[in-house]
Amino acid sequence: MRVSFTVNGEPRLADHVWEGESLLYVLRERLGLPGSKNACEQGECGSCSVYLDGVLVCACLVLAGQAEGSEIVTVEGLAEGDTLHPVQEAYVEAGAVQCGFCTPGLIVTTHDLLRRNPSPTDPEIREALAGNLCRCTGYEKILEAVRTAAGRIGDEGRAGDAGPGAAEAGA
Ligand code: FES
Ligand code: FES
Repeated sequence: MRVSFTVNGEPRLADHVWEGESLLYVLRERLGLPGSKNACEQGECGSCSVYLDGVLVCACLVLAGQAEGSEIVTVEGLAEGDTLHPVQEAYVEAGAVQCGFCTPGLIVTTHDLLRRNPSPTDPEIREALAGNLCRCTGYEKILEAVRTAAGRIGDEGRAGDAGPGAAEAGA
């Protein structure tokens, strides 16, 4: 089947999609967007987190056909050209990236948290990121990155900047 949707603000088509094919597979293997990672393919690790019509989802659990006509934003869509989003910058600066496999999912999840709650407490950060697993960092650097991003987004008034699809999410 053919699936069409908007990805990071651009209309995209994928042909010959199998009925059981996941949105994650289509993004990575058919549309050339490898940012969202495939670590478990079972909804357990959060490394494939994307926005689907403004709602944070695990792309490995969404059938590509279910996303027909939807607006999708991936980690690639958070940057503005070559300019990283403050959340992306904060992860790099905090040293919260080691192997980097969990990082795209954590960044999208952090972005979602901060647009809903621009000044989260540590327990709120931990709760929001509970579905994102990292095998490398011990999470302290990740917490630091979220705090840094929250401070910067607050300063810049960019908490609601979720890129395409933000409006639907009530950002
Ligand atoms: S790859 Fe989707 S949750 Fe792990
Ligand atoms: S940096 Fe390696 S899994 Fe998180």
